[in-house]
Parts: sequence; structure tokens; C-alpha cells
Amino acid sequence: MSSTDSFDVSESAPRFGVWALEEGAFGSPHHPEDPHDASWERIRAQVLLAEELGFDSTLIAQLFISPWGEEYDQGEAWSLAAALAALTSRIEIIAAIKPYAYPPAVAAKMALQIEEISKGRFAINFVNGWFATEARRLGLEFYEHDQRYDYGREWITIVRELLAGRPTRFEGRWFKADDYQPRPASRWRERPTIYAGGESPPARALVADTCDTWFMNGQPIERVADLIADVRARPRVGPPVQFGLSAFVIARETEEEAEEAHRYAWEINKSDAAEEAWLAQQVDAKVQMIQTYAKYPHIGSNGGTAAGLVGSYDVVAERIRAFHELGIELFMLQFQPFEDEMRRFAEHVIPRVRRSSPVRA
Ligand SMILES: Cc1cc2nc3c(=O)[nH]c(=O)nc-3n(C[C@H](O)[C@H](O)[C@H](O)COP(=O)(O)O)c2cc1C
Repeated sequence: MSSTDSFDVSESAPRFGVWALEEGAFGSPHHPEDPHDASWERIRAQVLLAEELGFDSTLIAQLFISPWGEEYDQGEAWSLAAALAALTSRIEIIAAIKPYAYPPAVAAKMALQIEEISKGRFAINFVNGWFATEARRLGLEFYEHDQRYDYGREWITIVRELLAGRPTRFEGRWFKADDYQPRPASRWRERPTIYAGGESPPARALVADTCDTWFMNGQPIERVADLIADVRARPRVGPPVQFGLSAFVIARETEEEAEEAHRYAWEINKSDAAEEAWLAQQVDAKVQMIQTYAKYPHIGSNGGTAAGLVGSYDVVAERIRAFHELGIELFMLQFQPFEDEMRRFAEHVIPRVRRSSPVRA
């Protein structure tokens, strides 16, 4: 298949995933029914419930300091991924990784261990980061935005080879590998899946060259369509890129009820002014994601409600089908209160999406 052939995603059902609660809350850390809680007990119960409800995937973000503030608890992505891999049996487990935090061979070896524990359900999400203060506190090198992508490209090029268990010899500007061959390689497939989140032109080029699936921040469907077209038009060797979308869902029986719940979420959001002011000072202003955020106010992280999955069950299901027609294969979702709303989504929205009715224009 050539790089320009499009993947006919409409022939396969969309997959649904949930962001793991390693950040303690999506929406507001001050929600009266869902206050910040990043404990292991809660994350374990959340992901086990997601699996039981039929969700296909979970994404564990990588942050070493909470985005809510330095005093907030924050889970650690890779130890959580390993533990969840051992406890679950069906759900895909995706752990985010910042290339400047681990040497590539160490990252590949860790990934293959979790691939082994999970029996072929592990994936990485390459993220080049935005959290300048975090890198400084940890003493990690945080290059200028585009240079971070040059560095990340070298990193993922080596990791990709190693994930396939191939003996890898590499000598680049930043990294060397001298015939390292991690064992065991995956016993279930060629290698763990490689996702990437990042929106800038260098991120898109890196995805087209080296990744399997591109994760987008939640944003209006017209903009998502343009971004997909941009990535599909880029040169690529191998199967076409697949697409994932992050979104915060507010779904109710009627439009009026959904509007009311949306209004309530914004009301609670007013109590986050201190956290938001702090966060605004932590970011690398060149990060495209931050510019997208400014254009589309939203509840939730990574675009959240800007994806438009707010409305009656029927409307949300219809919007999901429209995104799926465009090429979105995986919907990575956030809710608040998380567990109750995730249950509601599984009960009312997923069955509506899976009904075979065609997408309305
Ligand atoms: C679905 C998704 C997941 C992300 N997860 C993380 C994460 O776990 N940790 C993090 O620091 N950034 C995360 N990011 C943000 C990326 O690090 C950020 O968008 C990017 O690397 C900054 O570069 P850009 O200018 O290409 O957007 C995520 C982005 C997306 C779209």
C-alpha cells in the first residue's frame, strides 16, 4: 500500500479508551464529587472498571510534577503501566514517554518487559513535552522546541528498531547503540505500538516518518480534518498512519441536561484560577498545543471539550461517528466525576455509536 492510500477506517469499529487518573482529576481538582485523587488504589480500580465496561485502551500520561501544581500528588507512568499490565487481561495499556528522560535502549527494554507482562498489549506514546519547569526541577535537558524534535527523532528511530528486537547499531548526534539486541522481543507481534502526541509541523513530520498512530488534541472537527489531511499528505514508508483523538465528554439524555452539566463544569472551573495561573507560567510558549488551547477554551486536558463531545447521547454518538468517518480510530476520553461518567458513556453512547446507522451529513 502506498503512503497516499487512505485507511478505510469506516470498515472497522472505533475504539474507546480512557485517560488513567495518574493526574488525579480531569476537569477540576476541586470538583465536590471528584476531588483530586492520584492514589494507586483509585487508578487500579478505575482501569479495572474501564476494562470491565468494555473500553479498549488506557493512556497513562507522563508527568513527574502534577500539572495542577507542585504540591499535588502525581502518579508515575511506567511503574503504573507495569502494575496495570499484570492486573488486566484485555485492555491496551499506553504509557507516555518523554525522550529526554530515558536513554533509548533503556526505554525499549522497559517497554518490552511490559509487553511481556501484558502479553502483547503495551504501547508507548511519544511526547516531546511542554513543561519547562518540570525539566528544570529534574535536571533534564530541555532544548529549544524544534531542536527537541531533532533529538526526539533520533531517539524514536533507535527505539523503533529496538522495540522490534533487532540488533541495532546507531551513531547519531545525540545517541549511540552498539549492536544492542533486547531479549525477549515481543512474542505476540512485531513490536509494541508507537503512538505520538504533538501538534507542531515537526511533530507531524516525525509521526509520518516513525510512528503508527497520531494522537490529536481535542478540537473542532474542521480543524481535525485539516490536520489529518496534512499528515496523510506527508511522505511515508509502511502502512498508513492511524489517528487518535483526545476528548472530554459531557453526555446526557437530552441536550438541555447536557448544557446544564456543561455550565456546571465551567462554574466549578472558576475555582481553578490559582492552578491555571501557575500552569500558564510553566509552559514552553512555542508549543503548538498551547496555542491551540488558547484558540478553543475547554474543560479537561489536551483539548477536552473543544472536540465537541458535549450534548445528548444521540448527538455525541453522531459526532463520534463523524470523527470516525474522517479517520479517527481511537477516542481517548476524559470525564468528571470520572467513574460515574465513564459508566454512563459505556451504557448510553457506545451502543449508539456501534449501531450500524450511517453517518448523517
Ligand atoms: C493525546 C496527547 C497526549 C499527551 N500526553 C502528554 C504527556 O503524557 N506528557 C506531556 O508532557 N505531554 C503530553 N502531551 C503533550 C505533548 O508533549 C505536546 O503536545 C508536544 O510534545 C509539544 O509539542 P507540539 O508543539 O508539537 O505540540 C500529549 C499530547 C497529546 C495530543
